[in-house]
Amino acid sequence: MVVTSTEVIWHDLECGSYLADLPLWRELAGMVRGPILDMGAGTGRVTLDLVGAGHLVIALDLDPDLLEALQDRAGSLQVETVRADARSFDLDRSDFVLCLVPMQTVQLLGGATERAAFLRCARTHLRPGGLLACAIVTELEPFDIAAGSSGPTPETARVGETLYVSRATSVRVLPRRILIERERQVISPGTPPANEPAWEQNVVELARVSAAELEYEASQAGLVPEPALKIAPTDEHVGSTVVMLRA
Ligand SMILES: C[S@@+](CC[C@H](N)C(=O)[O-])C[C@H]1O[C@@H](n2cnc3c(N)ncnc32)[C@H](O)[C@@H]1O
Repeated sequence: MVVTSTEVIWHDLECGSYLADLPLWRELAGMVRGPILDMGAGTGRVTLDLVGAGHLVIALDLDPDLLEALQDRAGSLQVETVRADARSFDLDRSDFVLCLVPMQTVQLLGGATERAAFLRCARTHLRPGGLLACAIVTELEPFDIAAGSSGPTPETARVGETLYVSRATSVRVLPRRILIERERQVISPGTPPANEPAWEQNVVELARVSAAELEYEASQAGLVPEPALKIAPTDEHVGSTVVMLRA
């Protein structure tokens, strides 16, 4: 029996329900023939969708627990997972036709120096004419429930009898960074409300980068920008710009 790690549960709870970008990744994958690299693949939300549609996908992530869950969920489907850092990976193939970077993962890598390292690695692994597509978020509405904002509805998941709750408590838009703060709570079965455990803080830091900045950085790494695409916002998720970069 595979034991689901807490990291996987939080990842699924906070990322797993996002569907709005899948049509775009499917469309891009449908336009090419050859291996696809899913950068920061997590538990395989995008990888497994594309593999299910018959594409050859290599899933790269830093987190071994997430990759183990991805591999487990793949079942009999063929997926190769690679534990590596997006800023320094060195794979034994350099013929990718498409490299996807969904859900603002490029903004998790650090600042301009780290993005440059990633862009160089991605460029090296794409075949001539291959495409790198990076979803970024540029417009996030700040809020703070401590200052009276209502905030989004908490997300919940029940695993066995245990309830996992995650609620976003603030978004702080700083000059070079965006801080997304959440509180997480794990409630065991039978816990009376008065004894519920304390909320734990979790902070995700996104680098602020515009499409034009990323395109410039990519051109320094030998990639050629093409017109960016859009993923529309939904009731639960902000929209994204997808920066399109040709090797
Ligand atoms: C927002 S999640 C997106 C997961 C998945 N792509 C999806 O769309 O559902 C970001 C992912 O990037 C991974 N990640 C963060 N920094 C990374 C790095 N330096 N190298 C590789 N993966 C990284 C995290 O482990 C996480 O799985």
